[in-house]
Amino acid sequence: MTNTVKPDIIGVASSLITWGIRQLKGKGIQDVIEAVHLQNKEGQRPILRKEHKTATGIDYVFALPPGVDRIDFEANQHYFESYLNSIVEIEATGRRLILKTYQANFKEKIPFDFDHTQFADMFAPFPVGKTPDGKTIIEDLYNLPHMMVGGQTGYGKTSFLLVVMVALLLKGVKVSVIDRKGVDFPSFAPWVNLALTDAETEDLLKKHIAEMHRRQRILRNAGCQNFAEYCELHQDLPYLVLFIDELTQIRNKACFEAIGDMSVLSRVSGISMILATQKPGAKIWDGFTDVRSQLSGAMCFHVRDQTDSQIVLGSGNTRGSELPKIKGRAVWNNDQDQIVQAMYLSAKEAYAILSRQVAKGVYEFATDNDQCAERIDT
Ligand SMILES: Nc1ncnc2c1ncn2[C@@H]1O[C@H](COP(=O)(O)OP(=O)(O)OP(=O)(O)O)[C@@H](O)[C@H]1O
Ligand SMILES: [Mg+2]
Repeated sequence: MTNTVKPDIIGVASSLITWGIRQLKGKGIQDVIEAVHLQNKEGQRPILRKEHKTATGIDYVFALPPGVDRIDFEANQHYFESYLNSIVEIEATGRRLILKTYQANFKEKIPFDFDHTQFADMFAPFPVGKTPDGKTIIEDLYNLPHMMVGGQTGYGKTSFLLVVMVALLLKGVKVSVIDRKGVDFPSFAPWVNLALTDAETEDLLKKHIAEMHRRQRILRNAGCQNFAEYCELHQDLPYLVLFIDELTQIRNKACFEAIGDMSVLSRVSGISMILATQKPGAKIWDGFTDVRSQLSGAMCFHVRDQTDSQIVLGSGNTRGSELPKIKGRAVWNNDQDQIVQAMYLSAKEAYAILSRQVAKGVYEFATDNDQCAERIDT
């Protein structure tokens, strides 16, 4: 019997598809529009009116036919990104739409670089990361005031938390960390209040709740509506931030309730939370959606699937699962999406910066808890 070579149908088909995409990659934007079937019922496609080079890529200006909208472009955003080998942003006014492409000019590792003295008017500034056109996004946690950080294992959550933690400590913000893995943060004990075990977690959360009520009382006595107003008159309340690395490791009901209360009430008292998890889709606790709705900042590194992405970034937003598998690459969402590359900071470097620039010492929570029973619901 002779050994005939049977055609490998599947292999041929898949190489044809790969070949097709490769051809398309070099093609014009109109070919991409065609490939993703962006057209209305009558078969009319967006018409390219202009294209111009920018410092970082190309802006394509389209006139949209009736029945094709910004939302249709957004639904195909990751195809544009893949075909054009660029990061894509979409802007639209009326029937005019601009598709902005950025050659992803990110360095693989962007070192930590943050000068807090430039943000004197912010309570809790931190660098989110660099955008494709090289700008650094800085946010004030006070404006969020809470943030969720999601991403599959190994994509940069802890490094990002270290970036935020060091930036905040440089600014004089007081930090607490619940580190349920117990490996990444213990070395920062000279600068942060640390909780590693169940008992320590519960205790640290209780202290925050008591502090929140104490601060509400102080503000009320001072006749101030909010933390910013109070700080214009007094300088005795530092801004506080509580980090929780691996939220799903917290399984205690009292702790969930404390996190829930803080998510709603703590802004007014100058306390923010940053909640990080590998498994945003895990059923963490009943009522998590209520807490989620209070976390207006979200940093989403590569996540496993569309469900995880939507939990971090909001319903309908699947971009976290479409990110390239690059460490430190993330979607930053605060009203709008922005692709960023987070700065990279190892624990060793973080320790070195703090040793040089931040005096050791942690926030001493007040112990007069008898004043904490009262509560002002906002
Ligand atoms: N911003 C970044 N830029 C480049 N590389 C990064 C960045 N952040 C992290 N990395 C790389 O990825 C590795 C894992 O990062 P990190 O420990 O922060 O991940 P993680 O999301 O916290 O993972 P886990 O869920 O397992 O805790 C780092 O050791 C580093 O090599
Ligand atoms: Mg981690």
